[in-house]
Amino acid sequence: MATSPFRYFISLFLLLLCFEACLRVGDAKVGCRERERQALLHFKQGVVDDDGVLSSWGNGEDKRDCCKWRGVKCNNQTGHVIRLDLHAQSLGGKIGPSLAELQHLKHLNLSSNDFEGILPTQLGNLSNLQSLDLGYNYGDMTCGNLDWLCHLPFLTHLDLSWVNLSKAIHWPQAINKMPSLTELYLIDTQLPSIIPTISISHINSSTSLAVLHLPSNGLTSSIYPWLFNFSSSLVHLDLSWNDLNGSTPDAFGNMTTLAYLDLSSNELRGSIPDAFGNMTTLAYLDLSWNKLRGSIPDAFGNMTSLAYLDLSLNELEGLQLGCISRISR
Ligand SMILES: *[C@@H]1O[C@H](CO)[C@@H](O)[C@H](O)[C@H]1NC(C)=O
Ligand SMILES: *[C@@H]1O[C@H](CO)[C@@H](O)[C@H](O)[C@H]1NC(C)=O
Ligand SMILES: *[C@@H]1O[C@H](CO)[C@@H](O)[C@H](O)[C@H]1NC(C)=O
Ligand SMILES: *[C@@H]1O[C@H](CO)[C@@H](O)[C@H](O)[C@H]1NC(C)=O
Ligand SMILES: *[C@@H]1O[C@H](CO)[C@@H](O)[C@H](O)[C@H]1NC(C)=O
Ligand SMILES: *[C@@H]1O[C@H](CO)[C@@H](O)[C@H](O)[C@H]1NC(C)=O
Ligand SMILES: *[C@@H]1O[C@H](CO)[C@@H](O)[C@H](O)[C@H]1NC(C)=O
Ligand SMILES: *[C@@H]1O[C@H](CO)[C@@H](O)[C@H](O)[C@H]1NC(C)=O
Ligand SMILES: *[C@@H]1O[C@H](CO)[C@@H](O)[C@H](O)[C@H]1NC(C)=O
Ligand SMILES: *[C@@H]1O[C@H](CO)[C@@H](O)[C@H](O)[C@H]1NC(C)=O
Repeated sequence: MATSPFRYFISLFLLLLCFEACLRVGDAKVGCRERERQALLHFKQGVVDDDGVLSSWGNGEDKRDCCKWRGVKCNNQTGHVIRLDLHAQSLGGKIGPSLAELQHLKHLNLSSNDFEGILPTQLGNLSNLQSLDLGYNYGDMTCGNLDWLCHLPFLTHLDLSWVNLSKAIHWPQAINKMPSLTELYLIDTQLPSIIPTISISHINSSTSLAVLHLPSNGLTSSIYPWLFNFSSSLVHLDLSWNDLNGSTPDAFGNMTTLAYLDLSSNELRGSIPDAFGNMTTLAYLDLSWNKLRGSIPDAFGNMTSLAYLDLSLNELEGLQLGCISRISR
């Protein structure tokens, strides 16, 4: 009986000991790296944040752990920052090069903000990056070349929509050198047309693009030799609102994995090639707003997956009204 309180205290002591130890283990696991914390604070210095979105980012005692800052996600074992997602947070100013210090970053999403200025090519040092989304920023962002992207061996998803890429004349070569890229979005980037004299024939693309969105870029038919290199991998292709001119190449018929094709609002002339019938996986086809003539090929009957077809606003026979040529099933 006399040992009872003693046992009680021992148990309590052990419990407290364990509690403290557990807490300490917890402390060791979480908490960010000082170097990465400083890099984030540097980044914040260049950001215009009128709404105080980044108020959790700071030096106060309660803000020591940058893994708890808004938009920041760390690996819970190592404490390294692996994700920075600040999309649509009304942030302005410049994206500073200090982000390149976040060497373990896998996902960076700063889309739909108001960032401006020259894109820091130091981001090419983020060699673990898997997705990079800087699209749809309202400020004027520019990038003179895309060569820095070739240092990103694991990058699968790239969105630079609305970034001014008018000076990036070697963009096709840069894309070809990105081994893991599967999704590319360069919407309305003033992408220069491929200059036929620049030889791309000696560059073997190691890329297997599945999703390619290049609408609103003023691209001409000179894109075809580069484009058809991705024939066997493309699933989604959007080249609408460009300046593709002349006849539609038969080579589209070689895109036998394609499910979505938008070539609307270009200057395509002549008839629709029979070869289109070879795209038996195609579910969505928009050829509206071109200058296509002739009749719809019988081969269209072979496109058994087709659920959406828009041929309106062309000069095709037997299609007097736009609404007739737009089917959806
Ligand atoms: C740590 O991260 C892994 C992988 O994301 C997750 O499965 C695990 O539940 C996390 N552990 C804690 C304690 O949050
Ligand atoms: C990026 O890498 C280059 C060379 O690899 C180096 O000179 C530069 O300092 C690096 N920048 C950052 C911010 O790490
Ligand atoms: C970035 O965030 C936007 C908005 O949520 C999302 O649509 C987009 O897919 C994200 N980008 C990446 C690469 O995950
Ligand atoms: C894009 O950049 C080029 C040259 O850098 C410039 O001439 C052009 O005006 C810019 N476009 C826009 C829409 O700002
Ligand atoms: C890739 O492009 C080059 C240059 O245009 C061409 O010679 C080659 O045949 C293309 N490869 C495929 C598979 O289309
Ligand atoms: C591309 O492939 C061809 C044939 O496999 C080879 O002769 C050529 O050297 C390669 N070019 C490059 C730049 O690797
Ligand atoms: C397409 O447009 C370019 C530039 O305007 C022109 O040089 C070329 O001849 C045109 N091609 C065809 C087939 O109309
Ligand atoms: C389709 O691909 C085959 C095999 O790569 C090639 O021989 C043929 O020329 C291509 N057709 C067109 C129209 O490019
Ligand atoms: C379309 O398929 C037919 C039959 O399989 C083939 O003869 C023809 O070369 C193909 N056309 C293209 C452009 O690939
Ligand atoms: C439809 O496909 C079949 C089988 O590949 C082929 O024999 C036929 O010629 C095609 N029809 C047209 C109109 O291309």
